Amino acid sequence: MTAPRARVGVLASGGGSNLGAMLEYADRLAQARAFDVALVTSDRPNAGAIGRAAARGIPSAVVAPNDDDALLELLSSHAIDLIVLAGYLRLVPPRVTAAWRGRLLNIHPALLPAFGGAGMFGKRVHRAVLESGARVTGATVHFVDEAYDRGAIIAQWPVPVFAQDSAETLAARVLRTEHALLPRVVDAVASGQIRLSASGAVEGHPPGAPPEDAGFVWAQHAEQAGIGLDALQLRVAPRRA
Ligand code: GRF
Repeated sequence: MTAPRARVGVLASGGGSNLGAMLEYADRLAQARAFDVALVTSDRPNAGAIGRAAARGIPSAVVAPNDDDALLELLSSHAIDLIVLAGYLRLVPPRVTAAWRGRLLNIHPALLPAFGGAGMFGKRVHRAVLESGARVTGATVHFVDEAYDRGAIIAQWPVPVFAQDSAETLAARVLRTEHALLPRVVDAVASGQIRLSASGAVEGHPPGAPPEDAGFVWAQHAEQAGIGLDALQLRVAPRRA
């Protein structure tokens, strides 16, 4: 008897490529998956994420940013177990962060706590990384609490910054890593392999980085990114799917 799959509610304000990556990963895992996307909501009627949900027959709804009651009603009526913020630009209502403590995830396109917080989203993040001169950026998945980008960090995957990068080229490289990281963390939290303890500590092991999904191989780019090769004692994690 396989454990019932976690019902995931995705909140998204934009194109929804991270939602798409979650759906594709769930398809690839098939019966081995620990979650199903059961609801997609957005604060924007024209969000691509809504279109992606409709194309898959997944229930979706547009919820006005300050209509906390409507959001809570939707999450409850769809029996959502786990909420994933996949490009959601609003602060989650405190009643939701309280009720879904330890079951509310966010993905951020930088290595938090750096380059995060209110107002840090989209190209602004990557412009700030480039202006800082950082040689390494990355993606972060974390549990969500009442403040933007502040909850307990679950997993971070590094991404090299190249000298000729623009905010667009860097965003695209980070987004590709996000697409590999987020679904694996969602599945691990859904299955209970990763959880938030009562004391606020993250328990369990984040998924290993499957290098071929990242779109680059560190050994080929480490020098250009100014990273010492010997620092990269990469352990190739067994790929799950
Ligand atoms: C991603 O870069 C994510 O890290 C950030 O918003 C973006 C959403 O992109 N929170 P998409 O809508 O999933 O394509």
